[in-house]
Order: sequence, then structure tokens, then C-alpha cells
Amino acid sequence: MPARVYAVANQKGGVGKTTTAVNVGACLAEAGERVLLIDLDPQANATSGLGMRANGASTHDLLDGTPLAALAKPTPFPNLDVVMAKNDLATAAVELSTREGGERYLADALGGSLDAYSFVFLDCPPSFGTLTVNALAAASRALVPVQAEYYALEGLSQLLGTINLVKARLNRELAVAGILLTMADGRTRLAAQVEAELRKHFGDLVFTQTVPRSVRLAEAPSHGLPAIAYDRRSAGAEAYWKVAMELVERS
Ligand SMILES: Nc1ncnc2c1ncn2[C@@H]1O[C@H](COP(=O)(O)OP(=O)(O)O)[C@@H](O)[C@H]1O
Ligand SMILES: [Mg+2]
Repeated sequence: MPARVYAVANQKGGVGKTTTAVNVGACLAEAGERVLLIDLDPQANATSGLGMRANGASTHDLLDGTPLAALAKPTPFPNLDVVMAKNDLATAAVELSTREGGERYLADALGGSLDAYSFVFLDCPPSFGTLTVNALAAASRALVPVQAEYYALEGLSQLLGTINLVKARLNRELAVAGILLTMADGRTRLAAQVEAELRKHFGDLVFTQTVPRSVRLAEAPSHGLPAIAYDRRSAGAEAYWKVAMELVERS
């Protein structure tokens, strides 16, 4: 079966894209799937969140034509490989946006070279820029984390519109895998209201499983660990296990 490629995307920052990409990826890897995480954010949070640091080659080189096999590095976690990002990715993105067909570089770079993997996660930066468009053009599914806050729905329609545009213009195969509610603080009325609104507007597109606000999830990256490696019993780690299983069922 060809690799399933998920673009973890939302133009807002701090909504849980990186946390979702790292933790869902780590859970599937632990379940025995071959997983690749590609860090597409110049801030390189997914890279550092796995305890890694790009010294040499990085995502920039992938967009410049270096074969994936030379760039995908094993992480300390079995079955989980990563293409690391460095901050030079920001300049690469600007340069890419000036090139003819610049939206399709990642899709071309990945085409035919994902045989070693069953799941690929593209951790997008917080914008609709070239890197996110490249990710959506290369993905088969968009995975959309939204933070349980008052403005959560604002911007979501815009994001779904962008996904449809990319589908029409660049990638017929693209679909939304699901909208995942993150940082949901079960005790607050606000979180419950946001969840109800989300389900009312988007129905089955919303993951049944939500991710609670969890200090352990926020701490784990500073130790360079996915939550299941940092504190397996934490509510956050357990939630991401269920998200990973639901993702498999949804695809
Ligand atoms: N469920 C959660 N509970 C508590 N903190 C979280 C949770 N999800 C993410 N965080 C923290 O919130 C911040 C933003 O999350 P992150 O995944 O980096 O968002 P994005 O990639 O969308 O910018 C990070 O510091 C992260 O550790
Ligand atoms: Mg991020």
C-alpha cells in the first residue's frame, strides 16, 4: 500500500500542529508502522521536539532536489524517521515562491520515494505560504488541529477553502482527514461550547477523540521526547494514542 501522507496544517500558530504531528507519528511508529515526519517549519519545533538538531542536510535540501533517502534520518524512536528543518527554510520558502511551479516541489521530491513508509506527516508552518501549499500539494490528506478557544472557528472556513483550492488546482487526491480539537480544557464552559459549535458546523469531519490541555504534553518537547516516551500514563499521551487509532480508522 502506498504511504498515506498527512499535511498537519492550520495557518494559526500555537494550535497544536507540531504536537499532533510528533505525537501521532510517535504512536503509529510504536504500533509498528514505518513513519516519516518531515519538518516544514523554519522554527524546527518538530525536529527539536524529537531531541534532534539539523547540522547538515535538512528540508531545504529536499526542496532543492536532494533525494529523500539521503535526508531522512532515524530518530531515537524505532520506526520513526525525520527530515529535519533549520531556520534557513524561511529563505528557501521565499526563493521557492518565485520559481515556476514552485508549489509542486515537495510533491515532486516525494513522488515515488516513500515506499519505505506507511505514514508520512508534514508539519506545516503557521501560514498559508509556499511551504504549506507545497505540503497540501504533496499530501493525500489534511489533518487540521484547532485549539479550543473563542476564535477557533474563525479562520477554519478560510483554511478549508484553501484546501479546496489546492485540491482543484494542484492535487485532485487531497481530502480532509479530520479536524482535531486540541488543548480542550474539559472543565471550562468555553471548551464545551467550542466543541459543540465545531461539531455542529463540521459534523463527522471532527475527530471523536479530543486532546485535553495537558502540562505533560507541553513539557515533553523540552526533553526531546514524544509524550508516550516522556509520560505514557499522562492524559495527553493517552489521548494521542486514541487519535492515532482513529486516524487509521478514518483513512
Ligand atoms: N494539548 C496540549 N496541552 C498543553 N499544551 C499543549 C498542548 N498541545 C500543544 N501544547 C503546547 O502549546 C504550544 C503550541 O503547540 P504547537 O504544537 O507547537 O503548535 P503549532 O505547531 O500549531 O504552532 C507548545 O508549547 C506546545 O507544547
Ligand atoms: Mg509548529
